[in-house]
Amino acid sequence: MNSNRREFFQFLAASTVLTPSMRALAQQLAVSHDQPGAIMSAKEALQVMDFEEAARRALPPAHWGYMASGVDDDLTLRANVEAYRHIGLKPRRLVDVSKPDLSTEVFGVRWETPLFICPVGGQRAFHPQGEMATAAAAKAKRHQMILSNVTTYAVEDVAKTLGTPPWQQLYMPLKWAETEKLVKRIEDAGVPVLVWTVDLLAGRNTPTMTRFGRQDTRNCVACHSNGVGTPVPGYRPMYEGLGLEGRYNPPDATWATFDQLKKLTKMKVMLKGIDSGDDAQLAVQHGVDGLIVSNHGGRATETLRATIDCLPEVVEAVRGRIPVFVDGGVRHGTDIYKALASGARGVGIGRPYIWGLSAFGQEGVERVLDILRAELTMTMKQMGTPTVKDISAARLART
Ligand code: FNR
Repeated sequence: MNSNRREFFQFLAASTVLTPSMRALAQQLAVSHDQPGAIMSAKEALQVMDFEEAARRALPPAHWGYMASGVDDDLTLRANVEAYRHIGLKPRRLVDVSKPDLSTEVFGVRWETPLFICPVGGQRAFHPQGEMATAAAAKAKRHQMILSNVTTYAVEDVAKTLGTPPWQQLYMPLKWAETEKLVKRIEDAGVPVLVWTVDLLAGRNTPTMTRFGRQDTRNCVACHSNGVGTPVPGYRPMYEGLGLEGRYNPPDATWATFDQLKKLTKMKVMLKGIDSGDDAQLAVQHGVDGLIVSNHGGRATETLRATIDCLPEVVEAVRGRIPVFVDGGVRHGTDIYKALASGARGVGIGRPYIWGLSAFGQEGVERVLDILRAELTMTMKQMGTPTVKDISAARLART
């Protein structure tokens, strides 16, 4: 069946009657039918990784490259994923696991599962509904969403779709006066938690992204006024009406800047991108409300340790005083389990839901969330730990 379809699409791709873009589409479809197990609908997905290939097929090269890229040789990106494979599980048997409970509490709020949606910028590059489709999926499946600062839909609109204000990630503007305006806007939108990303304050090198961009032959002026990678103002709705110049990530930021930020707002303030026990201790001393152990999905600095390997020292340093979250490389229910067993209160995904969004919009994001929830439930039961509280480092074998 697949080979018949492939031949048909190959025939179309070679046809001179079709326009070049139709021929390119036919070529893409022919290639997709070459891949055993390639999925054509969200329902067909058997595991989260099925969506990666589906997204690659759905996206133009430049947008795929923006998402898939790490930095330099993409080693940190790969390390995040690989590290989970080197942690074994030690199950206990003959425990009643007939009533699994995935819920957990964060800042006095009950989360139905510990899985949350990481901030990912520019989601209309992946699907026309962008962050709105993600928010609709988060609402339908009841997951916490963190909205990127460089969102393509404003926080007020996303809050309406989500049914509640999301947590908001912050890339701090270079000028403090702009930070004040931006934070006020976020606070006025009813956001309860501000998440300042501190792992990308001084630049990065993204050859993978650039290489894919070079393969893209489309004319991108409708979205990129000053060349690829530079969105038109309408694609940075969080800056609209505030008169911001749009430059962010001050390289001179210090813990004093954190103190200033904390004083500026009544929202809880978390830091994203803390990967050492020493910084975690400092953060607690400065009154941080929570930490996300993260290396930006391997998109900031090369040869960093995998986040799952950094997590235990951060958890140890904070000694239960604040919740610690983790993201990076989570692709399976067993990965979420290992992060929880290493002390994470919540576990975030970035690329996996973006793959789902890219290939199938809201339905794709929902299916990714469903798969991970089902896998985590099964893992918890198979491990003899039916509730999140039962999960501990005793269930892990780190090699
Ligand atoms: C990101 N990430 C990110 N982080 C952030 O704080 N603000 C942002 O705007 C973005 N944008 C962004 C875009 C894309 C395309 C990706 C893939 C990632 C990082 C993100 O929040 C998270 O830390 C990682 O994605 C987690 O790693 P995995 O799940 O992608 O392996």
